[in-house]
Amino acid sequence: MKRISLTQHLVEQQRQHNSIPAELRLLIEVVARACKTISHSVGKGALGDVLGTASSENVQGEIQKKLDIISNEILLEANEWGGHLAAMASEEMETIHPIPNRYPKGEYMLLFDPLDGSSNIDVNVSIGTIFSVLKAPDGMTVPTEQDFLQPGTMQVAAGYAIYGPQTMLVLTTGNGVHCFTLDREMGSWVMTQRDIKIPEETSEYSINASNARHWHPPMQRYFNELQAGKTGSRGRDFNMRWVASMVADVHRIMSRGGIFMYPADAREPDKAGKLRLMYEANPMSFIVEQAGGAATDGQNRILDIKPHTLHQRVPVFMGSKSEVELVTRYHRGE
Ligand code: AHG
Ligand code: MN
Ligand code: MN
Repeated sequence: MKRISLTQHLVEQQRQHNSIPAELRLLIEVVARACKTISHSVGKGALGDVLGTASSENVQGEIQKKLDIISNEILLEANEWGGHLAAMASEEMETIHPIPNRYPKGEYMLLFDPLDGSSNIDVNVSIGTIFSVLKAPDGMTVPTEQDFLQPGTMQVAAGYAIYGPQTMLVLTTGNGVHCFTLDREMGSWVMTQRDIKIPEETSEYSINASNARHWHPPMQRYFNELQAGKTGSRGRDFNMRWVASMVADVHRIMSRGGIFMYPADAREPDKAGKLRLMYEANPMSFIVEQAGGAATDGQNRILDIKPHTLHQRVPVFMGSKSEVELVTRYHRGE
């Protein structure tokens, strides 16, 4: 395969499909560069003193890891000065981060989960960064939280970096999903898969089954049928995988199919599931749909949800179409 760099790919997209304005291209390249820096820190581990917990909590009351904070800082610093953004929002920050007045402002807004899969940092298992790009509403002067509350269908780009045996960047600008591998010697992103498609059918599911007793009846039903395998109504066996990094679990599904689930449960009725709509569910749903898969909250398409708060949580069912449709039918009572 001819080596195509991320820059070359973005320029081609800009020329062929006119889908990427120059500003957006610059923004994506800056995010990709920040992910390279995060990958470098992750790779150092104990040698870089980046493991372990910090002495702080984020807005959702979760203890922050050192790398959560480091990654957040890297993304903020990289994106502040380029002139392509109006504001940023992050899973690790209570409120939005407008671009400081000393820098020029642009028309995009960037949202991110700087370090996804934090529980895996200290045990050397794959983790990632997830990002989503929105356009600032027309006429916006001083950005507010309200300006970010746009449905996922409004995203103009989304992607994730996965820090695993290889560091990869998986990206969509609404024109398919393309995958780049970091060439560590050259320091550049090289396209290694074009137009990834998720197989429609699958026999693999991904869920934290330790929560099973708290799930609602439709989820229990679907899960019991998967577990019954050949001996049950599904008539075939299913395999299970759970990395506990959404990025890693969804990346596996991008490669070989599967369904990823984080349902709501009965423990905290006010919290609809664990995953965050703006930083996790929306960008991953955009990517999954662009790869021919589906993503719902059990009732509706995730990308259609009108957000009401920045840190809102949603139940998530995403991946191979046939399974997402089935579990959604069960939840709808169909
Ligand atoms: P984060 O590390 O950004 O807080 O996200 C963790 C999320 C997601 O990546 C993963 O799928 C899930 O939480 C794991 O949850 P369990 O701890 O219940 O397995
Ligand atoms: Mn996360
Ligand atoms: Mn995170």
